[in-house]
Amino acid sequence: LIEELKGTEGGRLVVAVASTVHYFAIRLLADFCKSYPKVRVNFKVTNRQGLLRMLEDNEVDTVLMGRPPEELDLVAEAFMDNPLVIIAPAGHPRVGEKGIRLEDLRNETFLMREQGSGTRNSVERFFAERGVRIVASMEMNTNGAIKQGVEVGLGLGLVSIHTVERELADGRVVILDVEAFPIMRQWYIVHRAGKRLTATATAFEDFVRSEAQRFVAPFNAILGAGQEAALGAV
Ligand code: PGA
Repeated sequence: LIEELKGTEGGRLVVAVASTVHYFAIRLLADFCKSYPKVRVNFKVTNRQGLLRMLEDNEVDTVLMGRPPEELDLVAEAFMDNPLVIIAPAGHPRVGEKGIRLEDLRNETFLMREQGSGTRNSVERFFAERGVRIVASMEMNTNGAIKQGVEVGLGLGLVSIHTVERELADGRVVILDVEAFPIMRQWYIVHRAGKRLTATATAFEDFVRSEAQRFVAPFNAILGAGQEAALGAV
């Protein structure tokens, strides 16, 4: 079967990923396409709400996203951790401070993803559960805008660590050591229950399961020696 896929036939793959996933998913896809050069790929990037709609409308083979709602008839399998972190510009006064309390950030402006984003859902639930009200926030509908907003000093960002690997490595943004952070979520491979997956989609799902980890930097390395304690506490 694999030989067939690698041969002249190829096949078609429609894969949709969360905007937050595409940073590593595009690298994963590049490697997949090296092994399966004949596969014709349609790669869609949108937020959680958009992905759920595509699944409902049966427009995609496979989706990479946060945990889907239980009530939908989907097959979902976790394949990787997704830590959400608070990022600040390099010169922010709280950079380097240990164990910042959530209440101490109450008066900060937070750059938040739009309604319909999985990141946004989780962050809202997290703050609600702790009874913390964010006073000021600014909404931005891409992770890219949030990263740039943080860099230029518009506020603090609440993002998946997978969206900021490069900026962290360059020192353009820094992860704050805040109590109860990172918020630990997971990424899932999802398709409709009862859907007959094509050989190509099956090959892609297998590839994600076995290879995805190679395309993200280990987060304790990203968090840096000084912040491992915060991660260990989760
Ligand atoms: P999103 O990511 O925030 O880009 O919608 C999906 C998710 O986190 O579930």
